[in-house]
Parts: sequence; C-alpha cells; structure tokens
Amino acid sequence: MAARYSHIRLARSFSTDTLAVVTAWTGRRPGPGREGLVGTAPRYDYGVSVTDSTSSNHQPQAVLVTGGNRGIGLAIARSFADAGHDVVITHRSGQPPEGLRGVVCDVTDSESVDRAFTQAEELLGRPVQVLVANAGITKDGLLMRMSDEDFDAVVDTNLAGAFRCARRAVKGMIRARHGRVVLVSSVVGLLGGAGQTNYAASKAGLVGLARSITRELGGRGITANVVAPGFIETEMTDQLPEDLRTKYLASIPAGRFATTEEVAGVVRWLASPEAAYVSGAVIPVDGGLGMGH
Ligand SMILES: NC(=O)c1ccc[n+]([C@@H]2O[C@H](COP(=O)([O-])OP(=O)(O)OC[C@H]3O[C@@H](n4cnc5c(N)ncnc54)[C@H](OP(=O)(O)O)[C@@H]3O)[C@@H](O)[C@H]2O)c1
Repeated sequence: MAARYSHIRLARSFSTDTLAVVTAWTGRRPGPGREGLVGTAPRYDYGVSVTDSTSSNHQPQAVLVTGGNRGIGLAIARSFADAGHDVVITHRSGQPPEGLRGVVCDVTDSESVDRAFTQAEELLGRPVQVLVANAGITKDGLLMRMSDEDFDAVVDTNLAGAFRCARRAVKGMIRARHGRVVLVSSVVGLLGGAGQTNYAASKAGLVGLARSITRELGGRGITANVVAPGFIETEMTDQLPEDLRTKYLASIPAGRFATTEEVAGVVRWLASPEAAYVSGAVIPVDGGLGMGH
C-alpha cells in the first residue's frame, strides 16, 4: 500500500512548498489519498487545474557560513536568512555585511575557529546545526613553479580549514543528533585544472572529508555533502577578457555562468528536511561542465 501511494506523497511534498501542483491519474476519480490535489486525467480528459500553497513546515535552523562576508558565501548566508533561518557568518576583518551577524575567524587557526564557534553559538542561542564551509582561496601556478608555501596555504585554507570547522561543529551536532555539514568545493576538484594543482587537490580532498564524516556520523542524524560549483558570475568572471569568456562559455553545456543564488539554493536544499537522506554526495552546480566526474 505504501509503495502504491508513494507518488501521492511526492505530489503532496510539492504542494506544501510554494509550487503549483498538478497530478495525473488514469482512473475516473482522484481516489483515496488524493484529496486536495488537483489532477489531470490524460486518458479520461478531466481537464487541468492547479492548486497553490505557501505553507512550509521547515523549522528555523542555526546556520554558520564561513567566508560569508562576500561572494558565494554572502549569497548563501542571505539565502538562509531570507528563508527565516538564524545565520551567523565569519569574516576576517572589518564589519559583517549589513543585516547579518558576524564573528571574526581565520580557518587556518584552530583557536580562532573554536572562538568563532563559541561566539556564534552565543549569538544563535544554541549550537550550530548547519555548517557551510565556504571559505577558500586560490594561488594558481604551474606545477614546476609552484612553491611549497602556495601549495600549503591553499590546502591549509580550503581543506584543513573545512576540517577544523567540521570538527568543531559536530560536537554540538552529535549531542543534538542532528546536523548538516555542507562543504563548498569546485568543479575543478574532480575535473582538475591546469595551473591549479593546489586548488584541485584541496577541493578533491573535501569529497573524502564529507564521505568520511558520513561514514563516521551518519548514524547520528548528521549529513555531510559537497557542493561543486562551476563558473560563477562574480567580479572575477565579469573581468575576464572577452575571448576567454567566450571560450569558457563554449565548454559549458548550459551556455552561461551560474549565479551565486543558484549555488545558495542547492546548499539550502541540502540543509533542508527533504535532504535528510542525502549524504556523502557531490552535487555539481556547473551547468553540466563537469558531468561524468
Ligand atoms: N567564484 C567561483 O567561480 C567559484 C567556483 C567554484 C568554487 N568556488 C568556491 O566557492 C567558495 C567561495 O568563493 P568566492 O568566489 O565567493 O570567493 P571570494 O569572493 O574570494 O571569497 C572567499 C571568502 O573566503 C574567506 N577566506 C579566505 N581565506 C580565509 C581564511 N583563512 N579564514 C577565513 N576566511 C577566509 C574570505 O574572507 P576575506 O574577505 O577576509 O578575504 C572570503 O569571505 C570558495 O571556497 C571557492 O573555492 C568559487
């Protein structure tokens, strides 16, 4: 019986969000369990109509976004805040962006990470439930000329920084038997990038980190996933020379760069109740650039 009506539950899950839902069936009547859903009957021609609902059963979550003062991290933080979640971002200097609460944090320093979490938890009034490890840097260079310092700095920030934040975050998550860890990687992590051995290695490492967290803590209600953006519309991509921009665009099946909001939407979904059974996954937001990897 449960399996028979799984499609009805699927339709209902859409109707509890802000989507308009049309279901299809092939009998004369909607049948049991379909009350409140409006359907099309392709074989018996009942016509089409639509239901709208704006209800949502999502509880506000306590969210910490590293590097949330600008770029993709800022879009992620704003997206969570706009959806009614309690958000704190980390920044290294200056003031947090308008309307967001911030704590100072350098992810290459364990003490700084610990202090930032303690302060964030005071601001949030509870332990962090959703960690978005977004802080990252690049220091590109050809392999033969790459210095130890440039390799180490990128791995220390992008990979070890995410590890330090995840290690601190799961303390509260284990106690609560609930938590979401989202690691912001890159299409380059699996595709590779000439001149980006340090960056690609650090971003590929996040996959092993998320999957090991999943194996270690999956039974405690904690998920850990990787989001792998491709080219994103940022100041950096805006300033690309026209010929390089055209070349990059030609390699992307979608034929365009992503917006920061498109990355934020996927991160938010991973933190939502609907994604409770998604863990250890690598979700590309790259318009098809890296598919198959
Ligand atoms: N932009 C893209 O096209 C793209 C594509 C794929 C993946 N990504 C990844 O997405 C993430 C965000 O990228 P973005 O383009 O938004 O970068 P961005 O604008 O350069 O911002 C990077 C953020 O990381 C923070 N950060 C850097 N080092 C840090 C450290 N040691 N401790 C704490 N925070 C630190 C920065 O803080 P400060 O402001 O203090 O410097 C800033 O908030 C990165 O992990 C990046 O690798 C980006």
